[in-house]
Amino acid sequence: MDTMSLHQGRFATASGVLIVAGKGGVGKTTVAAALATAAARNGASTLLVEIDGTRQLAKLFDVPDLTYEPIRLDLGDTPAPLWGCKITPDDALADYLEGRGLYRALKRVQGDRVLDALASSTPGVKDLLVLGKIRQIEQAGAYDVVIVDAPASGHALTLVRAAAGVLDSVDSGPIREQAVEVAAMLADPDRCQVVLVTLAEETPVSEVIDTAFALEDEIGVALAPLVVNAVLAQAPGSPSGDHLGVVDDDMATSLTDAVDFARTRGEARDEQLDRLTRLLPLPRVHLPHLDAESFGRAEIGQLADLLAVAADVLTDDGVP
Ligand SMILES: Nc1ncnc2c1ncn2[C@@H]1O[C@H](COP(=O)(O)OP(=O)(O)OP(=O)(O)O)[C@@H](O)[C@H]1O
Ligand SMILES: [Mg+2]
Repeated sequence: MDTMSLHQGRFATASGVLIVAGKGGVGKTTVAAALATAAARNGASTLLVEIDGTRQLAKLFDVPDLTYEPIRLDLGDTPAPLWGCKITPDDALADYLEGRGLYRALKRVQGDRVLDALASSTPGVKDLLVLGKIRQIEQAGAYDVVIVDAPASGHALTLVRAAAGVLDSVDSGPIREQAVEVAAMLADPDRCQVVLVTLAEETPVSEVIDTAFALEDEIGVALAPLVVNAVLAQAPGSPSGDHLGVVDDDMATSLTDAVDFARTRGEARDEQLDRLTRLLPLPRVHLPHLDAESFGRAEIGQLADLLAVAADVLTDDGVP
């Protein structure tokens, strides 16, 4: 992947649209929220977009739900506002047809079957509609940054493949125009980048490497720095005789076991970070594992601070 483009530095404001993607459960929503918070704190008016309908973002920002119309997410006193919205294929279709004066007529004739009919005749059309809406928001220019919390990698790949798929299967007409416009956005690193998120664990690392190559080589989407999330702290040193002298035997055994366990986990983490260094030539940012019972604005704010610092001092080797 020596052709892989490196987009270093301030990735929170580097590009119009940032699509945050990665394997299920690695922290996409958390990282998308932290990036958006960092961007707003950095003075960029920011829109955070949910497209999987899971309400995870709403929970993090303590609002009942996001809606198609952006709502203001309260971050306290930031130099620029943070907004959040939810885009579903149905809403995007209604909006698209409305823009062409067609929605009412079609709705009267076909009810809610419009989207199903379209989707079955043209695979990828739902994803294309969602990306088309994101492109329209980007073009309207009301926000400096649009950050998309994408679904798990499999679907993220399907999502960005949608435009190419429609271009292959549709020869003319408005759907093709939409695909051309979306493909142009995806191919332009100044307009759109994908932020891949992984954990320092074997399966997510393998998956993120495959996804990175597929995105960059096959689809031509630029990749922002890789975020390695929830990195465990260095293991403490082994308890010495001095330390162990003040506890009883059972406690000493538990302490030694705990340290051995932490060391083994640390070795596994280092092995995966080495694999990333060898196999994925992307700048990298590490976020620590936070010991929090539940995540809300405070934890997101903490990660946003770290992202802002890390992005500023990011080097080619990746690790800040
Ligand atoms: N840096 C971190 N430290 C500790 N816990 C974390 C960290 N990042 C995320 N988590 C926790 O891990 C869980 C998964 O995170 P998140 O929901 O962001 O992942 P996701 O990739 O969006 O998941 P899904 O694929 O289900 O959408 C959540 O409970 C979150 O609070
Ligand atoms: Mg999520």
